[in-house]
Amino acid sequence: MSDLEQSVDSQYFESYSGAEVHRLMLSDKIRTEGYGRAIAEIVKPGMTVLDVGTGTGILSFFAARAGASKIYAVDRSDILSVTEDLVEANGFEEVIECVDGVAEEVELPSKVDVIVSEWMGMFALTEAMFESVCRARDKHLKPGGIMIPGSIKMCLTPIQEDKLYKEHGLGFWTDSLYGFDYTPMINTEIADLDSNSVEGDKAIALASSAMLVEVDAVADPIEAYWFDSHVNFEITKAGRMHGFLGHFEAALSPGVLLSTAHDTPMTHWRQSWFPIRERAVEVGDTFTIHFKARKDPTGLDPRKPTYFMEGEWIRSGDVIDKFFYCHHGTYE
Ligand SMILES: C[S@@+](CC[C@H](N)C(=O)[O-])C[C@H]1O[C@@H](n2cnc3c(N)ncnc32)[C@H](O)[C@@H]1O
Repeated sequence: MSDLEQSVDSQYFESYSGAEVHRLMLSDKIRTEGYGRAIAEIVKPGMTVLDVGTGTGILSFFAARAGASKIYAVDRSDILSVTEDLVEANGFEEVIECVDGVAEEVELPSKVDVIVSEWMGMFALTEAMFESVCRARDKHLKPGGIMIPGSIKMCLTPIQEDKLYKEHGLGFWTDSLYGFDYTPMINTEIADLDSNSVEGDKAIALASSAMLVEVDAVADPIEAYWFDSHVNFEITKAGRMHGFLGHFEAALSPGVLLSTAHDTPMTHWRQSWFPIRERAVEVGDTFTIHFKARKDPTGLDPRKPTYFMEGEWIRSGDVIDKFFYCHHGTYE
């Protein structure tokens, strides 16, 4: 690991050492209760479990409640010293063993029946924790073992949302500012776009969502998460298109789907916002999109993805516009 990667990594684990981030995650009931139900469905008495990135131990506690015989609760963050107290406070010292380290590097006495991990960052990929989970799977999961989540889909929806468009950059420049024309600033904004997470529950969907990728957490390699996808959208509602909302759906178990779509109850991930320049669209228009997710090409933060979106806007068979956007993944 280079010096830069080491420093990014220590800052990353440092960011999980305080209470606030864990309060945010634990107060997300859709997330936490979803994991609780999935673990109760999958973990049977006597099974062994690895909790990759245990944080304050909640997923290990669910596994202990489900009757697991041994749980390895692994984390590299200093939060683990408190997790040990939490394990004791809940009387799970016999079953849960806290392991300080990086899950893909620690040695365990034997392979496990189940790996559970809440590894998803914004639009799932931010933090790139799935890379550790894949490596930990290859090292610690028994053949035929179970992953929680078992698979993940990433999706896009084209939307109209005037408020988001104004608040997150592009639309800000289209209104006259103090009586002056600032529209040329839009190009400066486009040159450096973030895909922030936003509350998209007021968005008007202009077409159905499309799935960019589905990754199988048991079988697929790391490369499957850094995907390259072609999708089409047929506009079903005329309006002003402002961009796309990105969301993910994690199949935590056969019976539990954790969705972060804008038309489902809001989670702490909210939705990821991929703005484009406003376009007046008509029913029947189509957008063909080539969407790529890559590690930050500057190399400054390997945990931060960059998304490349290349599109064509087609009306009555004619390409009426082409566009290219690059959005930086964000931690918030
Ligand atoms: C999103 S939090 C989830 C915490 C907890 N499982 C929960 O559901 O509340 C991710 C946790 O994984 C830890 N983590 C990330 N990568 C890790 C790795 N490779 N090895 C061990 N811990 C890791 C972080 O320090 C953080 O505490």
